Amino acid sequence: MKNYDKSVSMLAESKAVLAGGVASSLRASMKPTPLFAESASGARLRDVDGNEYIDYMLAYGPLILGHANPVLTSAILEAMNKGYTYGLQHSGEIELSKLLTEVLPCADKVCLSGSGTEAVMLALRLSRAYTGKTKVVRFHGHYHGWSDSIFTSFPAPDMKSQAADAGADKVPPGTAGQSENALEDVILLPWNEPEVLEATLRSRAHEIAAVISEPVMCNSGCIAPREGFLEQMRALTQELGIVLILDEVITGFRLSIGGAHGRFGIKPDLVTIGKAMGGGIAISAVAGKAEIMNLVDSGQVNHLGTLNGNGVSTAAALATIGELAKDNGAAYTHLERIATDLAAGIRGLFEKHGIGGVVNQVGPVFHMMFTDQKEVVHFDQFQQRDAGKYTRFAELMLEEGVLVRPNGLWYVSIVHGAEEVNLTLQAIDRIFARL
Ligand SMILES: Cc1ncc(COP(=O)(O)O)c(C=O)c1O
Repeated sequence: MKNYDKSVSMLAESKAVLAGGVASSLRASMKPTPLFAESASGARLRDVDGNEYIDYMLAYGPLILGHANPVLTSAILEAMNKGYTYGLQHSGEIELSKLLTEVLPCADKVCLSGSGTEAVMLALRLSRAYTGKTKVVRFHGHYHGWSDSIFTSFPAPDMKSQAADAGADKVPPGTAGQSENALEDVILLPWNEPEVLEATLRSRAHEIAAVISEPVMCNSGCIAPREGFLEQMRALTQELGIVLILDEVITGFRLSIGGAHGRFGIKPDLVTIGKAMGGGIAISAVAGKAEIMNLVDSGQVNHLGTLNGNGVSTAAALATIGELAKDNGAAYTHLERIATDLAAGIRGLFEKHGIGGVVNQVGPVFHMMFTDQKEVVHFDQFQQRDAGKYTRFAELMLEEGVLVRPNGLWYVSIVHGAEEVNLTLQAIDRIFARL
């Protein structure tokens, strides 16, 4: 049995002064206890009790180059030696913005922020200013950050009747303290349902400023869009004067150098990107059509942030994207190979042990879940998975020296290799035998 005593005592110490003992509420859910990290490098992380793990949590997505990547570290140090942030403009902002407009198919211009939540806030503001309308369509099971105007409860009760009834837009808040009215501009729809989308957009186009969607439902089961669904979303929004925002905070720089929209060949009006873009340093961006982004140029839309575009974050993003783009994108071939080997291996182990399970993989990201269903292609099916069993599995994985998110989404980095895959599959084999 692994010992987590020091993490347990540090959590108690932390709780006395840091509300909740964790800096982001989601981290509190880890079992048997939220771990405290000591150090990390490459694909491995060590906790304060001296346990070492192969890391597939990767800080919830940003660490696409692995921990303490030497190229990224030296770019950051070099930038730090020139001053971390200026509150003035600098060449790194221009260089990064140029690069983003080159690699992201939908990007004429960009804005730089610090987190995915902020990028989404700006994209929604731009959409409202551009269209002169206020409502925003979002989808059940998607996550777009924790700002009051978009954070909803999960799952929402009686979601379908809300979609069908134009007068019943009462979307439940996601947390205490969120104003009752915060979500009154949100129309919550089921995802991957073309008829519902078309009926809603056609009947309410006059009041809808934007449709915001994850291009792959990474936050709930890594569910791929049904064939033609994103294309339909694009065509309808274009026809009806609605801004299409693809929230690529997870998929940006993960599914391809051009994100999911580059991979799928869809051109949204705006994208939001974060996580992998900075390789672990806080930076995010909104990118899109000049016509919309020009609202910031003209001063009609305010975009603010003390640390926006700071030299450390732009250097980190430039180094990260540079590493991902070099050798004709060999990084993506590798990421996909590792994810495919893991996903196929896990499917094989489900079968070998007669355990019901599904692995949904889209390129270099996948979600593993316990369920007796044959496939999970809709949020309602995702909700029927055995989440408790997965939490237990994640706990047993820690015992085996493998760190995975308690919710089932796995990330890989460019430094994960065959050794990690083999060790991980052997660990799962042993755990499945116990389950
Ligand atoms: C799709 C999506 N959008 C937005 C966010 C919010 O990003 P951040 O946590 O950087 O604020 C997340 C975070 O997980 C996300 O998955």
